[in-house]
Amino acid sequence: MKITVFGSGYVGLVTGACLADVGNQVMCMDVDQSKIDKLKQGIIPIYEPGLEDMVKENMAAGRLHFTTDVKEAVDFGLFQFVAVGTPPDEDGSADLKYVLAVAKSIAEHMTDYKIIVDKSTVPVGTADKVKQAVLDVLATRGETQEFDVVSNPEFLKEGSALDDFMKPDRIIIGTDNPRTAELLKALYAPFNRSRERVITMDIRSAELTKYAANAMLATKISFMNELANLAERLGADIENVRHGIGSDSRIGYSFIYPGCGYGGSCFPKDVKALERTAKEMGYHAELLSAVENVNDRQKHRLFEKISAHYPDGVKGKTFAIWGLAFKPNTDDMREAPSRVLLEALIAAGASVQVYDPEAMHETQRIYGDKAGLMYCDMQADALQNADALIIVTEWKQFRSPDFEQLSRQLKDKVIFDGRNMYEPKFVKQAGLQYYAIGR
Ligand code: UDX
Repeated sequence: MKITVFGSGYVGLVTGACLADVGNQVMCMDVDQSKIDKLKQGIIPIYEPGLEDMVKENMAAGRLHFTTDVKEAVDFGLFQFVAVGTPPDEDGSADLKYVLAVAKSIAEHMTDYKIIVDKSTVPVGTADKVKQAVLDVLATRGETQEFDVVSNPEFLKEGSALDDFMKPDRIIIGTDNPRTAELLKALYAPFNRSRERVITMDIRSAELTKYAANAMLATKISFMNELANLAERLGADIENVRHGIGSDSRIGYSFIYPGCGYGGSCFPKDVKALERTAKEMGYHAELLSAVENVNDRQKHRLFEKISAHYPDGVKGKTFAIWGLAFKPNTDDMREAPSRVLLEALIAAGASVQVYDPEAMHETQRIYGDKAGLMYCDMQADALQNADALIIVTEWKQFRSPDFEQLSRQLKDKVIFDGRNMYEPKFVKQAGLQYYAIGR
């Protein structure tokens, strides 16, 4: 089948590469000439395990193509995937200007039947807006070309996006046209072999399903963070509580890890956008605003703990920070809790020596030569002359440090752990003080 993907960002590239990998012909289009030039040379703008190889292989096999030419892109595919960004505007609503610009471009150039597939996370009702935008342009062109608009939200996790695409939990297809549903089912058949994963529904429910999934997951995290804060005050250990409740199959073990707050490009933005949508409908979504508020507060928890440990302030202190990305296996720093922490420490007069296995470039891009911030190439370098160690992202390589050596190295012999990585007993045995979340 022939597919065009508008937007060669995270979602677009993964979608394009995976669809090509199962034998389709795919054209990825982006307005950013330098990005497309680099992609044509096999240079991937983001870090995602396996993606670079997959892009290169499929380009070499002649199945994956890149262009900045809109007409070429529209002509190419029966399926026109829209995977452009929907950044939040000032009031938290998703900004649809890029999505609608793509819709107009498709309408300007289409000469035969097209299926426009919304992959971007877009507010409920966007498919109707896309449809109207296409109809308006066709009307000015004096054309009556047939087309359909489908909502097919993505559920990719950064760090395991290829696996999530290849072996999805579900494939949501929102359409009011049964014939289009069949065409999409055929497109997704290679990812639907071991069991039925396609769930077809009306367009608005499909659009809401994406927000509902992310808001539910964010709610689980904020709930656990709330409980962790309570556990600290009650002298309980949230890790025991986590095991205790996770064993109930109705609750489950996943997504109940307390920490220093959720980040990334989805949860914060989507919870806000859903809250905003509710407001537009005249409904105050109390639970959603609480989820967001709890998370904002949680991102300050590490700094609060550090401040409590140093009653005279942190001025002049040097902190090693391990982990900057919003979660492991990504270089993404969007809404990362590390940013709140390092900015607070530096504002309070401390110095920070930071290390992350993948996010150093991204951190440098954001902070440049910020005073008080030192970038380290190695995990061990961050510890040089440090007073204390702070862990913000639970990368695998931080799981088993030599606590005896840390105890010798850290001047104040203290670890602040925002991800509950260690058994407190072992850390304390080495003569270190240990602060974690909710225990
Ligand atoms: C998320 C959704 O999982 C995915 O389905 C959607 O398409 C995009 O948004 P992603 O942003 O890649 O994916 O990250 P995810 O792995 O879900 O983690 C989000 C945040 O929650 C991270 O900051 C992580 O550290 C935090 N988290 C996750 C917790 O604090 N505790 C948990 O138990 C799980």
